[in-house]
Amino acid sequence: MSVQFDTIGSKYEEFKTTTPLPIPERHTFQRLVGNLAGKRVLDLACGSGHYSRFLNTLGAEQVEGVDISAEMIQLAREFEEKHPVGLRYHVMDARALSLPGDYDLVTAVYLLNYAQTREELRDMCLGAFNHLKPGGRFVAITANPAFDLRRSNFTPYGVEILSEQFEQGRHHCRARFLTEPPTPFEYFRWSADVYESAFAAAGFRDVAWHPFEFPQEAITRFGEDFWREYRENSLVIGVSGQKDAGATRPLKAAPR
Ligand SMILES: C[S@@+](CC[C@H](N)C(=O)[O-])C[C@H]1O[C@@H](n2cnc3c(N)ncnc32)[C@H](O)[C@@H]1O
Repeated sequence: MSVQFDTIGSKYEEFKTTTPLPIPERHTFQRLVGNLAGKRVLDLACGSGHYSRFLNTLGAEQVEGVDISAEMIQLAREFEEKHPVGLRYHVMDARALSLPGDYDLVTAVYLLNYAQTREELRDMCLGAFNHLKPGGRFVAITANPAFDLRRSNFTPYGVEILSEQFEQGRHHCRARFLTEPPTPFEYFRWSADVYESAFAAAGFRDVAWHPFEFPQEAITRFGEDFWREYRENSLVIGVSGQKDAGATRPLKAAPR
């Protein structure tokens, strides 16, 4: 499953640029990352570089992207070749992250929802922690632990959940991006407790959840009522953790 994006490829950018789901996501992400002037940022699960480029336009001094999919990194590098802004990309597994640099901010937009086990989730958080400078922050967007498929699907916003099966302590979810034609994918929905334990085991403090916010232009364009189910039963949510100013590297990722 970890390389499913090798076949999804450019369909993901189609999803990202033609459906409503990413509009509040981008707005919320921007608010969460805050002022990036002079900051070094590592963007985990960067895919084709959608948020790496956004971080650059928000003023980050340096942005590096990491993704396990060679196909997605190829797409990101092609963007960079056509419109060079100095972004660097690495094909690497975020469960065993090893880069020489340290960063003020590590982001992960839809990485943690691909952890199949608690250990993988912990190792992803640990990779982020170990690559942050003391005082740095980890900002992630992931599958909302509180989403309830019995209440509503997410079809109006560009993702249709086909099934959710509770097994091994988490929901194994099968879904499709509503591109033309639709693009199937799978992910895992963990509980808030499991996330909070993984963040804490990696060394993070001040773990906080961030429900999405809706920019005025999204309400003007689609109407308030269009976003009601997104607000009330969101498929997606932000979560962040802080590395103490005095923190050191506490642990190693489990051998795999
Ligand atoms: C839904 S895409 C998100 C891409 C980008 N963050 C965005 O929002 O546009 C998820 C990405 O996570 C990557 N991914 C999944 N498991 C990974 C892992 N263990 N290490 C690094 N990347 C991973 C996939 O290859 C894919 O590109």
